[in-house]
Amino acid sequence: MNSHVPDSTGNAPKPPGPRLGRRAVLGLSGAAVATTAAGLVLPRWLEGSATAGHLVAPHDPVIAATERARARTGRVVRRTLNAGPATVDLGGREVSTWAFDGEVPGRPIRVKAGDQLQARVSNDLPESTSVHWHGLALRNDMDGVPGVTQPGIAPGARFDYSFVVPHPGTYWFHPHSGVQPDTGLYAPLIVEDPDEPGAYDEEIVLVLDDWTDDWGQSPDAILRGFRSNGMGMNMGMNMGEMASTMSSTENPLGTDTGDVSYPAHLVNGRLPTAPDTFRVEPGRRVRIRLINAGADTAYRFAVGGHRMSVTHSDGFPVVPVEVDALILGMGERFDVTVTVGDGVFALVAAPEGKDGPPARALLRSGAGAAPPPGDLPRELTGRLLAYTDLLAAEGAALGPAEPDRELDATLTMANGGRRWMINDRTFEDSEPLVIARGERVRVRLANKSMMFHPMHLHGHTFALTRKDGRGVRKDNLNVPPMSEPVIDFVADNPGRWVMHCHNIYHMELGMMTTFGYRAPASR
Ligand code: C2O
Ligand code: CU
Repeated sequence: MNSHVPDSTGNAPKPPGPRLGRRAVLGLSGAAVATTAAGLVLPRWLEGSATAGHLVAPHDPVIAATERARARTGRVVRRTLNAGPATVDLGGREVSTWAFDGEVPGRPIRVKAGDQLQARVSNDLPESTSVHWHGLALRNDMDGVPGVTQPGIAPGARFDYSFVVPHPGTYWFHPHSGVQPDTGLYAPLIVEDPDEPGAYDEEIVLVLDDWTDDWGQSPDAILRGFRSNGMGMNMGMNMGEMASTMSSTENPLGTDTGDVSYPAHLVNGRLPTAPDTFRVEPGRRVRIRLINAGADTAYRFAVGGHRMSVTHSDGFPVVPVEVDALILGMGERFDVTVTVGDGVFALVAAPEGKDGPPARALLRSGAGAAPPPGDLPRELTGRLLAYTDLLAAEGAALGPAEPDRELDATLTMANGGRRWMINDRTFEDSEPLVIARGERVRVRLANKSMMFHPMHLHGHTFALTRKDGRGVRKDNLNVPPMSEPVIDFVADNPGRWVMHCHNIYHMELGMMTTFGYRAPASR
């Protein structure tokens, strides 16, 4: 069924000249031409070691059996996705980048929970690619991680993804190949709830992104810089400086939130001077689906002149909480609702702990001038959402239970920021964290570094651990510097699943590991 060119190393053959696209442009401008070709280094245990034989693999029959047991509508949604070079207008500035079907963000996919999504991905990039359906607890062989769940999709090849979409909510998709997520290759995946209570009148999707491609350094050049220089100047910190990078009320993620300085921050692919504008009648209740597609930037979001009611975290419903502002780490999503006043309001996403013009969209319900770009609504420094404010909604809670297994994932920096590690190993040296089907798994995410890490688990939606089992459900959790949050999940989706930092550079510099399900003893 899946037509792909086997490419188990993820290394693409050198493409012919005319296909270079973005690279060719860089070459002409005198910048170094990148050659990484999304080369993924795989952990040794995956390459036929004894460990691999004792763990469920993506082609194991149990994966298809788990899929057959999923609730389904019987409806099939088909989509083609072409990943290729594109020139896009960010609103007065054209950039050549990589995108799905020439658009940034890519056109959203909308399905209902239980639908079968069939996405035919064709690769017109000069390097190997993949599509990961971020946040979905789907069948393992469709998770889109080259080398772990499928071979990379070679240049000129295609791959058919096909799976039942398990849960309603706000998700997104992007390649899981090298630093491609820091190009324009990202798009929303909205899973509607067949039983949606419909407590809102309109819906807006806002995708936040830090932009550098064809403007600042290329993502490949940024990665090369980290590989050779690490974080540069950050090394000789004294105690005072170290203390000042810690998290505090004003800076919950600490002050060292990212290492890349981006020339622009975008909402829905638009610069703040040419914002996406939504016209809404005053008094309407608007659901805003927020997605942080940034590679190295957390955003603090607020709606000028409005309080927001937070209704969903990473797709799953929460007991609604009223706040002025919230922070989204890379990969994270929140849904909020606002009752729209009369006027013109800015939907602002300010890069957390970074300089640079805040990203924004506009909400227009009446007459008046838009606030000037760069304007920071006072809500940004008002009541800020904390994870501990959130309880899983009735029906979305994991429920109380003692763990069957407790694991540690300790997060550290090594070699001056040239490498980032989990349990003292980079991905290539990692050993799988072994779990068994049906277990309640508890993981302590111990951040022993001076930066926050937005940790993302594939294939499961965990809960922040609470005695009463009502902890907020998430797949993407900001772990502040020197903090140790604890999460629980139920091992109900067999396969090989990665967990990694969603800072794309930290991930590429090694901050990724896997969970492996022990294969049934009968085999
Ligand atoms: Cu959004 Cu492993 O990724
Ligand atoms: Cu990180």
